[in-house]
Amino acid sequence: MKDILTEQEIQQLRAETRGTEKTIHFNNAGSSLPPNAVVDTVIDYLYEEAQNGGYETEYTYREELENTYSLISRLINARKDEIAIVENASTGWWLAFNGIDFKPDDEIITCEMEYVTNLIGLLHAQKTLGVKFKVIPNDEHGNFQLKAFEEAIGPKTKLIAVTHIPSTAGGMIPVVEIGKIARKHNILYLLDACQSVGHVPLDVEEIGCDMLAVTGRKYLRAPRGTGFLYVRKEVQDKLKLFFMDGFTTQWVTETDFKPRDDARRFEVYEKNRALTLGLGKAVEYALNLGVERTWQRVQHLAGLLREKLKEVNGVTVHDFGNQLCGIVTFSVDGTDAATVKNKLAERHINVSVGKAVSTLIYMNKNHLSNIVRASVHYYNTEEEIAILCEVLKGTIGEAV
Ligand SMILES: Cc1ncc(COP(=O)(O)O)c(C=O)c1O
Repeated sequence: MKDILTEQEIQQLRAETRGTEKTIHFNNAGSSLPPNAVVDTVIDYLYEEAQNGGYETEYTYREELENTYSLISRLINARKDEIAIVENASTGWWLAFNGIDFKPDDEIITCEMEYVTNLIGLLHAQKTLGVKFKVIPNDEHGNFQLKAFEEAIGPKTKLIAVTHIPSTAGGMIPVVEIGKIARKHNILYLLDACQSVGHVPLDVEEIGCDMLAVTGRKYLRAPRGTGFLYVRKEVQDKLKLFFMDGFTTQWVTETDFKPRDDARRFEVYEKNRALTLGLGKAVEYALNLGVERTWQRVQHLAGLLREKLKEVNGVTVHDFGNQLCGIVTFSVDGTDAATVKNKLAERHINVSVGKAVSTLIYMNKNHLSNIVRASVHYYNTEEEIAILCEVLKGTIGEAV
């Protein structure tokens, strides 16, 4: 058990985050408040580019830019040559998924909490390639059914594609146990870790996934428009490439070329260097704190928030399952989620609306339409939780 964040550290972390001065931010599952160091890194780099030129600045910061890959690989216990920096989780996921050489009747197994973008990908593959996919529902308590999952595997199963932490619920799925099943049956394993990176400790070796798609702006506290894709070394050659340029592919002769020998083959040359550095700074920040430590604080705050919300008349908390995370979802009797969000925003409290479409299978099954999503991060406080609940009580009293 790692030591927990002290009160003094939390105050320090808040002092290092401008946004906490005026805003109570419970929309970390949307996009976290970044540390000042991340914002300053991006802005300073842009100024330097404007002053000295883009290529020249890149040359000056070549080691720091390169170090972003090392930092990411440390964060998820991967190798540096298994990391591609991309703009967001969707790009990473689609690059990996559509890289797979599917044949008609190949099967994919997924979970009921799979994210909309990924489900669209699965449906698209079904329509265009004749691939089939099976959705394994959670049990009546909201827990992932490992046995049913393994039983669904057949000779045609080509891929396991699941979302670690869903966008509209506080439950998590057992990614390590799923990885063991994937290895046992020798099936490719694609994990959407968009909501989990920086939130819970992630170790791709322990999980045993082959591909992992991540975004920067959520629990990692990196700038918007950042993300990365992990592809296990042995799998890289098996995936088709969509884009190739002189950076991702090398000329062998005038009539032949060869993709790079690392995951950067999935990137393209031109990208926002300032954001890459900002992403690196956010990863460094997370590593310095230790995700094991911050995860304990997130669990404590989310548990407290669920408890306090249950004490508010008219509020129903909707997080199911034994393994819960920092995303807390609820609804308010007689008031739609957007109205609750707007009322809280008037008091500088940010929550978001978890849209049914984001995890349609899960939401339909549980008869949920849009819900309120209050996602806590380690820099939130008990006091902020108390204020949220007080404001909610007042809001319900107003019968909005
Ligand atoms: C679980 C999950 N997967 C994927 C995504 C897509 O991430 P991005 O917007 O970075 O592409 C989201 C976005 O909210 C998400 O919650």
